[in-house]
Amino acid sequence: MVKKEQLYEGKAKKVFATDDPEVVIVDYKDDATAFNGEKKGTITGKGAINNQMTNHLMRKLEEAGVPTHFVEELSERETAVKKVSIVPLEVIIRNLSAGSFSKRYGVEEGIVFGQPTIEFSYKDDALGDPLINDYHAVALGLATWDEIERIKKYAFAVNDFLKETLLACGITLVDFKLEFGKLSDGTIVLADEISPDTCRFWDVKTGEKLDKDRFRRDLGNVEGAYQEMARRLLGK
Ligand code: TMP
Repeated sequence: MVKKEQLYEGKAKKVFATDDPEVVIVDYKDDATAFNGEKKGTITGKGAINNQMTNHLMRKLEEAGVPTHFVEELSERETAVKKVSIVPLEVIIRNLSAGSFSKRYGVEEGIVFGQPTIEFSYKDDALGDPLINDYHAVALGLATWDEIERIKKYAFAVNDFLKETLLACGITLVDFKLEFGKLSDGTIVLADEISPDTCRFWDVKTGEKLDKDRFRRDLGNVEGAYQEMARRLLGK
């Protein structure tokens, strides 16, 4: 596969064209941002860990019946993925209260829900990714009802798989954010990444945070948390 011109640079990844119009290459960076880019930093080794963890999980999710954009891991930081148009919704599943949920509703972090919740944010940096409901998403033409139903079904399936996989590694899956894309024929697939940047991972025994909250909240040992997640999930 031939890596061609850069198409896009996001906060954590770059995207390159290839000689195949249906395939692009994502290149994961060590750059970290929080609070819509207000806080900036570097997490050494993050790009390689997030790339490999995402690919490991997407391979398993395909086997579990969730279609993904994954094609082939090319190097430590680079992966070939199917070219998609991203549905501009951040899909957030929560198993325990934390983060913006706790803040919005004035509740402590760590309340275990009887069943997982789902919410959407409108992916728009200029607006600060506001919370949006499904009626508003359809009204704005961001997705159709059929697409939203499919996205919800896949997101809960990802939660079932991920929760169980992580528990076996001694990790509580608190919450996470997914993004979905559309192939040229309209098929909805899981895209973006599944990593400590986009999930909250708490050690089952100690409650220690092993995710990007260590960066967001200046908790220290940020690199160590990413390495520990790689060790537990990938055995490296
Ligand atoms: P929140 O509690 O801040 O809404 O975050 C919920 C989950 O979504 C958490 O696992 C972190 C993830 N997330 C992202 O991946 N990107 C973002 O921009 C934000 C705000 C959260």
